[in-house]
Amino acid sequence: MAEQKLSSKEIFELEDKYGCRNYAPLPVALSRGEGVFVWDVEGKKYFDFLSAYSAVNQGHCHPRIIATLKNQAEKLTLVSRAFYSDQLGKFEKFLTGVFGFDRLLPMNTGVEGGESACKIARRWAYEVKKVPKDQAKIIFAENNFWGRTLSACSSSSDPTCYQGYGPFMPGFKLIPYDDIPALEAELQDPTVAAFMVEPIQGEAGVVVPAPGYLRRVRELCTKYNVLWIADEVQTGLGRTGKLLAVDHEGVKPDILILGKALSGGVLPVSAVLANNDVMNVITPGTHGSTYGGNPLACAVATEAIKVLLEENLSENAERLGRVLRAELETIPKSLVTTVRGKGLMNAIVIHDSIPAYEVCLRLRDAGLLAKPTHGQTIRLAPPLVITEPQVKQCAGIIKQVLTDFKK
Ligand SMILES: Cc1ncc(COP(=O)(O)O)c(C=O)c1O
Repeated sequence: MAEQKLSSKEIFELEDKYGCRNYAPLPVALSRGEGVFVWDVEGKKYFDFLSAYSAVNQGHCHPRIIATLKNQAEKLTLVSRAFYSDQLGKFEKFLTGVFGFDRLLPMNTGVEGGESACKIARRWAYEVKKVPKDQAKIIFAENNFWGRTLSACSSSSDPTCYQGYGPFMPGFKLIPYDDIPALEAELQDPTVAAFMVEPIQGEAGVVVPAPGYLRRVRELCTKYNVLWIADEVQTGLGRTGKLLAVDHEGVKPDILILGKALSGGVLPVSAVLANNDVMNVITPGTHGSTYGGNPLACAVATEAIKVLLEENLSENAERLGRVLRAELETIPKSLVTTVRGKGLMNAIVIHDSIPAYEVCLRLRDAGLLAKPTHGQTIRLAPPLVITEPQVKQCAGIIKQVLTDFKK
């Protein structure tokens, strides 16, 4: 039987009627993607300037990643960790080699990566740092975002994320982002296990800390014997113009969390990486996930990382990020008050006189998809396979849409 073809309007109505209303999508219904482009069900083509919150760094439906997916899907998809598969060990060896850690813990979503990192840090605090039982603390930065579990809500400073979900996880503490004195004050507490932080805050609106921040974080965590957890779920894997955002300052966290683009937007794959002294606090039976490290995910993620490296996508992000920001800087300050970002993780702040959501609707009509985050900020994060002429064309679309508001 031929599949029933639905219009955009019918698709909006279906989700509205039968789905949990936990999102408010921009009204556009997509059915196909290739590289930097997506198409709606009526066949209209758009530049994707969100990249599924940076999960699609390698571009939509990258042929190499999809070929690997199909090939592995026909052989073996899931065995759970009750048995070995011929894929997991190879994947772990490859990824630990690329990122320079001893061991990898495979999970699925980004938030599970964060949860796992917190669990590892707490165990490390009790077993290695000798923090008294149940007293370990984890420090987070205000305006962080690492997902939607109760732990993530418990460490959030955003009421939309946490309100109505109490009681919250104890042992979490918030300090201002990009504030070294505040961090040092907290780290002196001998019960602190870890400081978990995004190298650039993504959901907060692409907030880039002052140069040297990450280096000081590294130095202080070492000085006070506290684990530094870098949440690179959004900043990692080429997005900011380096393989990892921490590479901009030449520093290495104790625990690294990867997700999103680890599968090139094909299926949920996340990973936590650490050295033996930290990762070995986890022993058989003390943590796990049915799908974590499944053969399909391992094969796909290995290929997704090879694509990133072999197609020089970090370098492309670095170069074209500069081009994009230079083009956006030419938009008058009466329209765009701020342009910020690193690599192809960028944001513009729209002047208060112009509604950012309306801008996104008009960008959609002009063939470019982006979404506002936190009021007047619009994140601009295309797949890293974008070309220079395409970056210039897109900057032109953004400029034109904004200029039209003042007419
Ligand atoms: C920095 C960061 N960490 C973690 C997450 C959570 O990832 P997931 O939605 O896959 O659970 C996100 C999602 O946006 C994120 O931006």
